[in-house]
Amino acid sequence: MQTHSAIADLRAALKQRGRVVFVPTMGNLHAGHISLMEQARNHGDTVVASIFVNRLQFAPNEDFDKYPRTFQADCDKLAAAGVDMLFAPTEADLYPEPQEYFIEPPSIQNVLDGEFRPGHFRGVATVVTKLFNCVQPDAALFGKKDYQQLMVIRNMTRQLAVPIEIIGGETVRANDGLALSSRNGYLSETERAEAPRLYRLLNQIRDAVRTGRTDYALLENEAISALTAAGWKTDYVAIRQQSDLSPAKAGNGPLVVLAASRLGTTRLIDNIEI
Ligand code: PAF
Repeated sequence: MQTHSAIADLRAALKQRGRVVFVPTMGNLHAGHISLMEQARNHGDTVVASIFVNRLQFAPNEDFDKYPRTFQADCDKLAAAGVDMLFAPTEADLYPEPQEYFIEPPSIQNVLDGEFRPGHFRGVATVVTKLFNCVQPDAALFGKKDYQQLMVIRNMTRQLAVPIEIIGGETVRANDGLALSSRNGYLSETERAEAPRLYRLLNQIRDAVRTGRTDYALLENEAISALTAAGWKTDYVAIRQQSDLSPAKAGNGPLVVLAASRLGTTRLIDNIEI
């Protein structure tokens, strides 16, 4: 696997590499990321991954400083997964001058995760655009666990006519259902044992909707109460339209249930399509 940090070196190395498929990450790779790398192989000739912990998408009170950085272990996993090239810029490579131009997503950036993480999707959209411009891939993969992120990137790419195919990768889960995430590493043993409750509740909502319940607000509140009773602090449990994440309306197309809740200081997100 080749590794490049400088943008010019990366671009030179990517000349005549056939169809390039890109998987951007913030490192601390787990089986969910590796599954994206493996899927990427089916979509092109050259698989490029990136590792960059993007300061722009963290609010000042968030975990940018403590975000796990495990570069050598990540390189080993990428090489073992057959990734052809790694782009691992430093902050000075990617942001050599203060970033003053941003990609500003529309109102979708202010709902759900955006309501609780102001500026997050602007930071994501900006860095993804910049990474796209560095790698210039033909396709890019993003995990469906970050459902809203995937939607922001899909819509941005379509509306700005970015010539990159966006592919969503299924969420990879531990045996007990917990969605894999770099932030799971923050959980204590007791919290880790409790964490699968979130996915169980999402499943319960899905089953209830499938059996015909349309009292969505009540279903959301029941799940929030169950989480609160078990010691969680919930930002949202929301039943939404898959198409645009607007509030669910009975008979209006496929739905998705999304949730974000905190166990101790660890914020977990998950979702399930109905
Ligand atoms: O999903 C992530 O890891 C990040 O948000 C991404 C897409 C790599 C942008 O920094």
